[in-house]
Amino acid sequence: MRRFPRQPMLTLASITLANAHVMTHPPVRMTSTPARHFSSERSALKRGRMAATAESRFITGNVGNNVTPYIENLVGRDLHKNPDQPLGIIKAKIENYFNSLDSDMKFDVVDSLDPLVDAQRCFDDLLIPTDHPGRKPSDTYYVTRDGGREVSSAADTLLRTHTSAHQSTLMREGREAFLCTGDVYRRDEIDATHFPVFHQMEGVKLFDPALVGDPTTMTREEWLASPGCELIAADLKKTLEGMCDELFGPVEKRWIDEYFPFTEPSFELEIFYNGDWMEVLGCGVIHSGVLDNVGKPDRRGWAFGLGLERLAMVLFSIPDIRLFWSADKRFTKQFKEGQITTFKPYSKYPPCFKDISFWLPDDFEPNDFFEIGREVCGELVENMSLVDEFTNPKKGKTSHCYRITYRSMDRSLTDEEVNEMQNKLRERATDLGVELR
Ligand code: DAH
Repeated sequence: MRRFPRQPMLTLASITLANAHVMTHPPVRMTSTPARHFSSERSALKRGRMAATAESRFITGNVGNNVTPYIENLVGRDLHKNPDQPLGIIKAKIENYFNSLDSDMKFDVVDSLDPLVDAQRCFDDLLIPTDHPGRKPSDTYYVTRDGGREVSSAADTLLRTHTSAHQSTLMREGREAFLCTGDVYRRDEIDATHFPVFHQMEGVKLFDPALVGDPTTMTREEWLASPGCELIAADLKKTLEGMCDELFGPVEKRWIDEYFPFTEPSFELEIFYNGDWMEVLGCGVIHSGVLDNVGKPDRRGWAFGLGLERLAMVLFSIPDIRLFWSADKRFTKQFKEGQITTFKPYSKYPPCFKDISFWLPDDFEPNDFFEIGREVCGELVENMSLVDEFTNPKKGKTSHCYRITYRSMDRSLTDEEVNEMQNKLRERATDLGVELR
């Protein structure tokens, strides 16, 4: 979905997860994402039909609605609020760290905001342009999107794609420092580090104008070169480096210049862990345009966003992102509030591989196919990867072959149920206009 080159496959032994979900999605690397085409109305109608089985808060029957029952069913699980679950344990550790810093500033803990937001909050307030790939229905779960696929507007409603979606609301409420955690939703590929729902934490701290100066008296260039901007960036870096040491023990770190539309300057923090550099978070000095949008042109501050699964997978040695959703006691009973412990795999159940090949229609979106995989197989699909692609010049058609890995985290699958899923997947794929081979 984000069409970034995938990192080389990582071994589970090293569990570095350099390619884990989260920070590599748009709206992150706004620069490096190639533009993608919009698909035709035909798909929009089809998608609308696909989703509109029963009307609900998330399944609306609106032409642009692409939330599936499978996704709807995952909303509100609140994994991050379970203190005895790896995500909740990491969340609490970070919150404790921030609120034990030597400063009179307390960070408000916000973790119960509704994931259904509008595009104004999720994108426009953050200066993410209407044609950004992260706003496409191939990447985002829309609840309403009048006009279907073609038009992105601030009034669209959607499942938040990042916790940055709450920055503007919380700042408008007058909060000066906060940590906002929640479940975020992205249509995506299927493998051990990607799940359509994951969790992020957003941090924001505004600074006293007496300390950093009044930016309304400066040009953009003057502000960026000012001691105030430097002070904020230095505080940001020091604070986040301390957070890494708190979580990982003293580790080697490096800062990478990045680009996010909502911060200027922007950075990424990486740590050297288990023999590899791992991206931990994105951050920066809040862009003046974002503060203008919330009616605070005279204020400045920093912001960061991190993915909890990515950190938890590394810290607890959890090899597959689906495990966080497991209700199996052999998983849930392993973790206790306040403790980072190594996950002990309870059993390895055998995978089952099946291929599916088809000719693509003109408007094929791989994420639509992956979505069907989730819909048909739920957590029983471990991986869907493109293993072969070729174009027949005479036919002028392209064929894709995907390898599907079926595997349960909790039990052995029978041949019968795998065959049933595979047949259903083949059947449902034809809804996308593909021609099975
Ligand atoms: N929202 C970004 C993402 O989803 C992460 C992020 C980057 C948040 C920079 C921030 C920030 O607050 O300043 O990947």
